[in-house]
Amino acid sequence: MSFSAEWLALREKYDARARNSSVLDTLIAFLADKHALRVVDLACGTGSTLRAVASKITVSQHWQLVDNNLSLLARASEMKPPLGVTFSTTPIDIGYDLEAALDGPVDLVTTSALLDLVSEPWLERLVTEIGARQIPFYAALSYDGRAEMSPPHARDAAILEAVNLHQRGDKGFGPALGSTAAKTAIVGFDSLGYSVVNGTADWVFDRADREIQREVFSGWANAMREVGDMPLADIVEWLTFRRDEIAAGRSSLRVGHVDFFARPTGSR
Ligand SMILES: C[S@@+](CC[C@H](N)C(=O)[O-])C[C@H]1O[C@@H](n2cnc3c(N)ncnc32)[C@H](O)[C@@H]1O
Repeated sequence: MSFSAEWLALREKYDARARNSSVLDTLIAFLADKHALRVVDLACGTGSTLRAVASKITVSQHWQLVDNNLSLLARASEMKPPLGVTFSTTPIDIGYDLEAALDGPVDLVTTSALLDLVSEPWLERLVTEIGARQIPFYAALSYDGRAEMSPPHARDAAILEAVNLHQRGDKGFGPALGSTAAKTAIVGFDSLGYSVVNGTADWVFDRADREIQREVFSGWANAMREVGDMPLADIVEWLTFRRDEIAAGRSSLRVGHVDFFARPTGSR
């Protein structure tokens, strides 16, 4: 599955606004007494996690940005990091070679908008590899299956059901966990004796956020077309309703996400 730089740029400010502040505060407090942090950001895209987090951490940091999409990595490499922060980009397909991304001394692993794309076996592998190295892990913006559309439409529930089914398709890691990914990861880290804080990190789009709502609803109509059984004319009618409401400045949308920070306690 490929993600365009344009889509990642469009969502970045909403992602930044959605990130759960108590999860982030726990991460920042945990790192406050560390020195010269080495961070690995898995599936970095163009580097949004570094942009959202690095300036809030008060110690010097080096980020290794990992993705398998060379054009996103090229965009990431153009970024000007905050003072005290350096970074490098590394092309790795983490579906195959996760361990290469975690090699060497690492103080923190981060990711965002990744876990809902991965399969259960891959997630188990991620938890095992991170747990074996006793590395703290911050995962932001995993979709959790909730959505509230306003104004309502009679076909919303059926569309959302199709979206959640579509989320479970193969996104390059085998059948994806979709909306259950964050919960599965939290249970996994918990069972390794990690201490985990989590909280919601919902996208909240109001009437003025037209472009992102148009993109999200188009994606959802396509999801219904690909995996649902709704007649095409009904999908088109639903999407036309949504687009008209956006254009009239009457549409708002909340999409559920979860953030968590898991830190080793040395208790196992
Ligand atoms: C939804 S985007 C999130 C990007 C970034 N973390 C963000 O929040 O803006 C998912 C990212 O996962 C990357 N990705 C997907 N499969 C991958 C794989 N097998 N190995 C490495 N990166 C992968 C994509 O290239 C993309 O950058």
